[in-house]
Amino acid sequence: MIHFDQEQGIFHLNNNRISYIIGVLTNGHLGHFYFGKKLYGPLKQEMFRTPQNKGLTSNVFDGNPSFSLNNERLEYPIYGTTDFRDPAFDLENAGGSHIYDFKYKLHEIIQGKNKISLPASYADDDEAETLIVYLQDESGLELMLSYTIFTDLDIITRHTLITNEGDESHYIQKLMSASLDLKDSDYQMVQFSGDWIKERHQYTTPLRPGIQSVYSNRGASSSNHHPSLILKRKKTCETKGEAIGMTLMYSGNHLIQCEVDSNNITRIMGGISPHHFKWSLEPKESFQTPEMIMTYTDNGLEYLSHTLHDFVRKHVVAKKWQNVLRPIVLNNWEATYFDFTEEKIVELAREASQLGVEMFVLDDGWFGNRNSDQTGLGDWFVNMEKLPNGIKGLSKRIHDLDMKFGLWIEPEMINKNTKLYDVHPDWLIGDPTRKISHGRNQYVLDFSRKEVIDHIFDQLTKVLDDAHVDYIKWDMNKNITEAYSRGLSKNKQGELFHRYILGVYDLYERLTKRYPNIMIESCASGGGRFDYAMMYYAPQGWTSDNTDGVERLKIQHATSMFFPLVTMASHVSDVPNHQVGRMTSLKMRGDVANFGTFGYELDVTKLNEADKAAIKEQIKTFTSLRDLIHKGDFYRLLSPFDGDGNNTGWQVVSKSGHQSFVTWYQVLSRPNEPVKYFKLRGLDEKSLYRVTGMEEPVSGSLLMHQGIMIEPSFNGVEMKPYALGDFQSRTYFIEKVYD
Ligand code: DGJ
Repeated sequence: MIHFDQEQGIFHLNNNRISYIIGVLTNGHLGHFYFGKKLYGPLKQEMFRTPQNKGLTSNVFDGNPSFSLNNERLEYPIYGTTDFRDPAFDLENAGGSHIYDFKYKLHEIIQGKNKISLPASYADDDEAETLIVYLQDESGLELMLSYTIFTDLDIITRHTLITNEGDESHYIQKLMSASLDLKDSDYQMVQFSGDWIKERHQYTTPLRPGIQSVYSNRGASSSNHHPSLILKRKKTCETKGEAIGMTLMYSGNHLIQCEVDSNNITRIMGGISPHHFKWSLEPKESFQTPEMIMTYTDNGLEYLSHTLHDFVRKHVVAKKWQNVLRPIVLNNWEATYFDFTEEKIVELAREASQLGVEMFVLDDGWFGNRNSDQTGLGDWFVNMEKLPNGIKGLSKRIHDLDMKFGLWIEPEMINKNTKLYDVHPDWLIGDPTRKISHGRNQYVLDFSRKEVIDHIFDQLTKVLDDAHVDYIKWDMNKNITEAYSRGLSKNKQGELFHRYILGVYDLYERLTKRYPNIMIESCASGGGRFDYAMMYYAPQGWTSDNTDGVERLKIQHATSMFFPLVTMASHVSDVPNHQVGRMTSLKMRGDVANFGTFGYELDVTKLNEADKAAIKEQIKTFTSLRDLIHKGDFYRLLSPFDGDGNNTGWQVVSKSGHQSFVTWYQVLSRPNEPVKYFKLRGLDEKSLYRVTGMEEPVSGSLLMHQGIMIEPSFNGVEMKPYALGDFQSRTYFIEKVYD
């Protein structure tokens, strides 16, 4: 899959569908030539490089006005040597100079993928091939650019390693995971931005000259800007057109940016945010960037998502969890908040087990003196007043109900009013000479310090060794402010953010190694750290604290651009909804939660008989759909981000093509609405399918091209109770009859 043409100095990475092409330029730097649909036949540098003669410009070679890096498309652009655009890296030597000149030295091609010291995607030797290009500067610094191309998926992954083979120390101020210069700027940028309880809303804007970016400087990948971007052509839609998707496999501060220059070249790059980043690289030391996952398609956003979904399921989520269907959960947070006893928990679990729920998750409030958000974090020992038999006793009682047991933790945080703070007041992040801001009365523990992680790990193992825990919900509810570590020397303060996230990964490594059978769900005030690196350790994430049936349409819809449904935790909660106060039907809430891991987040002991019966039915339905939902292909039929956003349509089709499940949602009921035709996708045109509510089987072509007729909610002639009012949803189960 990887070919090097020595004469032309061209590397061509390709599988059956895509090509990624780079070359060694005359000055020894790497040029970016192509990322797109597969190219065949002989390739020459002049096919890709723009002839240069730009008049007043700065040139690399003496007396040669036709070679300026500013007019080249580059692969890992450098600062200070005739390219005036934003560089992929910025280094400083002991003398304060930022001028370096990394030139091609050698390369190697290996089967499979090289391992790195960060969470990264993985592949067997027959699933991928990797190109490693070594670039060297006369200071002794060496850059290693790694590219992996996958056999069956249209994915290229990239990362960068810098090693100091010289005798002097250097500072890294910026080191992107990947950078590439696309040959035009005729793109729209799709970003996934939002906030707490409105994570990952989709925004589409045309590229313009200059820099546009998404970033996080919060110490977490954040609910504000997801570390991913799509560049698509104006006409690209779900089913056709070109798009490039990028996502950074990293949970800390990030930057992904596009720069359009005066030649209409689009430079897209991404990696750790350079803000407050300064890493000292001593002789013989290396620094590893996170991995950038990139995909290209000319088949629309649906194909892009299918590629990424398969990639996450096969190459990101740990092998152990790849084929494990997610248990149906009852979480007690919105049922009790901090106010519970062992008896109340068992009562909830008993009722839940009768409804068919498979796992009970005990949320916040079981430890220390945690009766409110004022105290407790950091004291990871059981609150015996609430749980007199400990987690051990409670977990046994839950298992006796034939249910699994899950436990909430928030290991990265500390409250001041705790035993931990009494002993280690210097363990929280913050400049002790200044005021340190709290969030929800809590502070961030300094996970750049090993002794802090050791202590938290020891406390947690005491609880986990003793009890029968099947699942952990790992929460994180405060972003880093006043970033200063009392454990780092003054010239290493710029390393804090990255060292913090390395500390988080360290604790994940330790816990997943010691408890290989415990499944972890990541959470950060909902979906505030919902990224590929988290998925590497925690195969699912709490998508959002917002469980309102309407708000979740947008959140889950946009999240599905990069994440398969099996990673998205989705629960039915009570009404009025605790986040927005909206009243929606139990049916709609269930129909939205179906497209995820499924579960409940309400006081099941307070349900009336009708709701209990409805929930039993929902659980039965989801159980019968689970394999399809978790392993099938997801189609976004109608988008809540299009038009007035009133209708959303989702569909899953099994990999075999035999089954499909479809839901149509309507937010508000409108008077005198015309009939709608809901067109499906992913079916076989000629095959016949049995569809819920239709007496006779119909062809895939009819379902896809004519569509399912959606009757208006009120047409002035006939009123059907199921079709009335706001917040409606209709579901269809579809099964192939014969080919
Ligand atoms: C924030 C989470 O997103 C919620 O689900 C819940 O676990 C609370 N924290 C508990 O404090």
